[in-house]
Amino acid sequence: MSIAAALVDEIRLVERAPGIDDYRRLRAATGLSPKSEQAARRGLAKTSYGVSLLRRDEVVGMGRIVGDDGCFYFVVDIAVIPELQGRGLGKRIMDALDAWLRANAAPSAHVSLFADGEAKRLYAKYGFAQSDHSVGMFYRV
Ligand SMILES: CC(C)(COP(=O)(O)OP(=O)(O)OC[C@H]1O[C@@H](n2cnc3c(N)ncnc32)[C@H](O)[C@@H]1OP(=O)(O)O)[C@@H](O)C(=O)NCCC(=O)NCCS
Repeated sequence: MSIAAALVDEIRLVERAPGIDDYRRLRAATGLSPKSEQAARRGLAKTSYGVSLLRRDEVVGMGRIVGDDGCFYFVVDIAVIPELQGRGLGKRIMDALDAWLRANAAPSAHVSLFADGEAKRLYAKYGFAQSDHSVGMFYRV
């Protein structure tokens, strides 16, 4: 087995969002916009479903679903630390989120996300498609 494969092999997925410090560290390490400690505390507490990838005790990846648990869900915080990217770990995160949605979301639920750059190729594997008639819009407070 190659060193890279062995590295990935020892990484396990747990069904919980990371803690506040790990969450903020992972966002920074993967180029996602920074979140204050207060925002992270409030936001993480409202996670509908979250996963973390652990290399021993170190959190090396994450993904979350937030929403109203009925009508609307939003997939956020999909991240894998740079040194482990490109080895299927993003798919491991999305497999878990996708399985949770299929088991828990009502048939009429609307699931959305913002895809940064090439990450859209990852999301397309799970049925996400760019809308023909809706445009994603946002502003940052
Ligand atoms: C997006 C991210 C989580 C993907 O994780 P990853 O472990 O590198 O992804 P995987 O190795 O599981 O592969 C993802 C699939 O998408 C495709 N893909 C190609 N380029 C990609 C890219 N730059 N980012 C994500 N997926 C990409 C891959 O081809 C792969 O499919 P394949 O194996 O059939 O070729 C990771 O790149 C990351 O943390 N990026 C920085 C943070 C970020 O932008 N997050 C997304 C916000 S919307």
